[in-house]
Amino acid sequence: MTHNRSTVRFLLDGKVVEIQQWMPTTMLLPVLREQLGRTGCKEGCAEGDCGACTVLVGREHHGQVRYQSVNACIRPLALVDGCEVVTVESLAPAGMPLHPVQQALIQHHASQCGFCTPGIAMSLAGRYLEAGRPDRPQVLSCLSGNLCRCTGYRPIVDAALAMDDYPPTSHWNKLSGCEPSKLAAIRALDDGTTLVQESAGHIFVAPRTQAELSGWLANHPDATLVGGATDIGVAINKAFFAPRILIALLRVQGLGEISTDAETINIGASVSVADAFTELTTHYPELAELGDRFASPPIRHAGTLAGNLANGSPVGDALPVLLALDAELSLVSVQGVRRIALHGFYTGYRQNLLRAGEYLSAIHIPCPRPGQRIAAYKLARRYDQDISAVSIAFSASVQDGCLSQVRLAFGGMAACAKRVSELEVALEGASLERVCAAGIDTWLGQALSPQSDHRASADYRMAAASGLLRRALQEWQGNDAGRIHHLEATS
Ligand SMILES: Cc1cc2nc3c(=O)[nH]c(=O)nc-3n(C[C@H](O)[C@H](O)[C@H](O)COP(=O)(O)OP(=O)(O)OC[C@H]3O[C@@H](n4cnc5c(N)ncnc54)[C@H](O)[C@@H]3O)c2cc1C
Ligand code: FES
Ligand code: FES
Repeated sequence: MTHNRSTVRFLLDGKVVEIQQWMPTTMLLPVLREQLGRTGCKEGCAEGDCGACTVLVGREHHGQVRYQSVNACIRPLALVDGCEVVTVESLAPAGMPLHPVQQALIQHHASQCGFCTPGIAMSLAGRYLEAGRPDRPQVLSCLSGNLCRCTGYRPIVDAALAMDDYPPTSHWNKLSGCEPSKLAAIRALDDGTTLVQESAGHIFVAPRTQAELSGWLANHPDATLVGGATDIGVAINKAFFAPRILIALLRVQGLGEISTDAETINIGASVSVADAFTELTTHYPELAELGDRFASPPIRHAGTLAGNLANGSPVGDALPVLLALDAELSLVSVQGVRRIALHGFYTGYRQNLLRAGEYLSAIHIPCPRPGQRIAAYKLARRYDQDISAVSIAFSASVQDGCLSQVRLAFGGMAACAKRVSELEVALEGASLERVCAAGIDTWLGQALSPQSDHRASADYRMAAASGLLRRALQEWQGNDAGRIHHLEATS
């Protein structure tokens, strides 16, 4: 049996910070700014979009400390319990030289009003701490969650490309995560207790074991689970969502693991979107672009793959891909575990087969079979950090130009992400060349019923869905003219 405590404890510049007065919905950003004087991190949008609030969070990972950027505005304070927090002030403590990231930003004139600059510095610091020097595409990807409203990005990108040229400082260099003292300090925060807070009729709990989690859910079947809070955090800040009981998955032993055997990739409920896509692209390299276009690095570091599926948005990016890959889910409660196919999990708009008191503990994805191909495309108004208007995932075995084991799934085309079984059957055994001439539009028109909304009209969605499927078929025949290519800077 574990003991409880209500004080949130985390490290900041080597010192233990203890926060006793907090609400389950208290975010990290106001605590940093208003209680700890860390006013470098700013509030721009309060919904994870602009990056002005970016900080690094350090957690133990494979025997080292891994520092990753997150958005403090939608990071519940309680989710940094047991972690180290790094703010822009941490980069250059009093009496120490500026950090190479800061020197590069200054010398490349990459700051004007300065409101966005601390967040940019922290995103770059997260990249700087990783091994190796980033190239231009990596820099652009790293900065995709940071909006700068006045400098333009060229000097910022130039600074990022040059940050590794400056002499490293003794604090926050590429070896920081390997320092035994940092790992020891993080481990020392953990006394094995369960964080529980009750405040004004609202409860937060971060169970440590799956049995403890199931017990809480059995006693409180109406509780709200929280993974990385990238959906819930926005609901709290913008829709004043105030769950009566919030149960966090992050500290539950065994839910943060990825295991892969000869047949299956198993992704635990608290594995981040970033780590999940890293594993998925090892097996399915075709998914790299989608992984890079899923939100931004801070959102991918915080959000979980399980949260994306459980949230069940019809435009959630992982849903079509995992439908097309025949993923299965483990659903757990005090009654035991049941394993079900993702296909059929959704029963309507944000409705699914999860029962009260049950949680999604793991996602199981088959490893690729010989000859299998997959195409996954996302259509959004912007390339980076934007929610899809339409997305498609198309998987099949291709042998001698013929398709078999066809799976075709769409997002944004109905009340929930769905496979188009009728068209899958029609495509089974077809030759790639013949499919291009077939009546794709007729099949899609019969199976899908997209809505018009602020992202796209129904007509646009239908035309786009057809176009994306044709693009996949073209690419599989060796014609990649429809692919988006990044332009290299010419000066
Ligand atoms: C700025 C921004 C950009 C975004 N861009 C994208 C994007 O490009 N593509 C995209 O698909 N999404 C995007 N999202 C949405 C979000 O990041 C993803 O849906 C993410 O995967 C959610 O995971 P989470 O762990 O943060 O979920 P949470 O917010 O913690 O939870 C989401 C929902 O799932 C439930 N839940 C979580 N885990 C479980 C579980 N294990 N069992 C049962 N229920 C559970 C929660 O109760 C809640 O209802 C974006 C969000 C933001 C703020
Ligand atoms: S304030 Fe905009 S991302 Fe946090
Ligand atoms: S420097 Fe002004 S918004 Fe970025």
